[in-house]
Amino acid sequence: MTEVTEHRLARRIKALRASRGLKMFRWNRRCCFVKTSLILVMSSLPVIAHEPVTTRLTWTQEISRIFYRRCLSCHSEKSSIPLVAYDQVRPWAKAISEEVRERRMPPWGAVRGFGEFRDDASLTLSEIEMIVHWVEGGAPRGEDIYLPEVPDAERPQYNKPSPGFLVTNGYILRRDFTAAGIRPAQVIEGGSIQVSAILPDGGVRNLVWVRDYRKGPACIYWFRDAIGLPKRTRLLMHPPGTSASLISTAKPER
Ligand code: HEC
Repeated sequence: MTEVTEHRLARRIKALRASRGLKMFRWNRRCCFVKTSLILVMSSLPVIAHEPVTTRLTWTQEISRIFYRRCLSCHSEKSSIPLVAYDQVRPWAKAISEEVRERRMPPWGAVRGFGEFRDDASLTLSEIEMIVHWVEGGAPRGEDIYLPEVPDAERPQYNKPSPGFLVTNGYILRRDFTAAGIRPAQVIEGGSIQVSAILPDGGVRNLVWVRDYRKGPACIYWFRDAIGLPKRTRLLMHPPGTSASLISTAKPER
């Protein structure tokens, strides 16, 4: 903690105490008391200019790497909540900590065992801990030289993802189609969608089952291996009013 920050913080707390008549805090420069009072102060102040940094984790070294791997597919520059650059992430720090701790983010949503996917987006326990500690420690930026290159959100998957084509309940393919992934299209907020393919030989391929659907940045569930769907395959959606886009690596044909 720098002296300047500490000083500023002390002033803030003093001012706050005076204005709100909070119980006196004993100012202890070393112990976690600082942190406790900080939390109290922060919950009542709209903005704190500089929080003291109490962690060695930094955005440029550890945290950006977790985000680029786990969050960018949905929180790219083009999304409603871009989380690519430090300045975009910093204002969300508290919310991020809460979302990952509660395991609401990333919202994987797909029921396990129903379809197989390349990237189960769930965070590991240690990734959650790192993010939470980083936020609690003041969410420091770190030195820019450590910053990894921003990956192209689509590149790790396929060079040329198609926009996909929309299928509804009962849709029958008129040509062979190779599905690389699937994106829920029409699903009510908080609702679910289950998609299966009935192959011409009667076999069933479970494609995806998403529960607790949340609207937002369009998210593609990429299959672990591309799924060949022969001509005359029938798609079943449950509930029937839902729809989804099948994504292929090649130009979709209908
Ligand atoms: C599978 C897609 C997906 C992934 C991956 C994902 N998110 Fe999200 N995120 C969403 C959606 C959808 C919303 C809601 C967007 C909206 O309200 O516009 C959201 C919203 C948020 C919000 C705002 C919550 C609020 O308070 O409203 C935060 C913070 C967030 N995400 C953090 C993260 C972090 C951190 C990661 C990576 C660890 C992550 N997300 C990964 C889809 C995703």
